[in-house]
Amino acid sequence: MKLILRELQPQDEKAFLTGLKAWGEESSWHSFVWKEGMHFQEMLQILDDRKNGRNLPEGLVPDTMLYGFIDEDTIVGRVSVRHVLNDYLAKRGGHLGYGVAPSFRKRGYASQMMEQSLGYCRSLGLKKLLITCASTNIASSKIIEKFGGILEQEVWDDEDKEMIKRYWISL
Ligand SMILES: CC(C)(COP(=O)(O)OP(=O)(O)OC[C@H]1O[C@@H](n2cnc3c(N)ncnc32)[C@H](O)[C@@H]1OP(=O)(O)O)[C@@H](O)C(=O)NCCC(=O)NCCS
Repeated sequence: MKLILRELQPQDEKAFLTGLKAWGEESSWHSFVWKEGMHFQEMLQILDDRKNGRNLPEGLVPDTMLYGFIDEDTIVGRVSVRHVLNDYLAKRGGHLGYGVAPSFRKRGYASQMMEQSLGYCRSLGLKKLLITCASTNIASSKIIEKFGGILEQEVWDDEDKEMIKRYWISL
C-alpha cells in the first residue's frame, strides 16, 4: 500500500492516538514529545518549535518528526530527521531514526519511509546522512543498504552495550 510521509496536522489527532495504541507497551517509539493528558495542539506546537530550533531542551538539535500514513486515519510508523549532528548523534543515532509499529512490519513500509525521508533530507540541504543501527538489526541494515548506505565501521556502543553499524548515505 502506498505510504505518505508527512508532518502531523491539526486534523490528525485521532490517527495519532490510534497509532500510539498500535505500539502497545513500546508507545515511546511513536512520539518523543507526547505525554498522557497533553492537548494535541500543544504537542504540534512543540514539534514545530523543535523543527525550527525554538526552546530546544539541552542536548537536542532541531529535528522534524514525520509520520507514515497509509490512509488519512492510519499511521504505521515514524521517522525522526535530525537536521544536524551533535556529539551524541555522531556516535549513535545519526540523522535518521525510524520505527514501524509491530502489526505493520514486513510490508515494506519502513522502506517507503526511508525513501521519502531522503527526499526530505535533500530539501533541508543535507548532503550526507549518518544512520546507525544495532549489528543484530537485520531489517534496518537491509533498508539502509538498499538506499545506498555505505558501512563505515562496526563499533561497540558502551551505552547500549551492543555492537552497532555506522552507515553513510550520500544524497
Ligand atoms: C526495523 C523496522 C523499522 C523495519 O520495518 P519494516 O516496515 O518491517 O521494514 P520493511 O518491510 O521495509 O523491510 C525491509 C527489509 O527488511 C526485511 N525484514 C523485515 N523484518 C525483518 C526481520 N525481522 N528479519 C529479517 N529481515 C527483515 C524485509 O524482508 C525487507 O527486506 P527486502 O528489502 O530484502 O525485501 C521495524 O522492524 C522496527 O520498527 N523495528 C523496531 C525499531 C527499529 O529497530 N528501528 C530502527 C532503528 S535503527
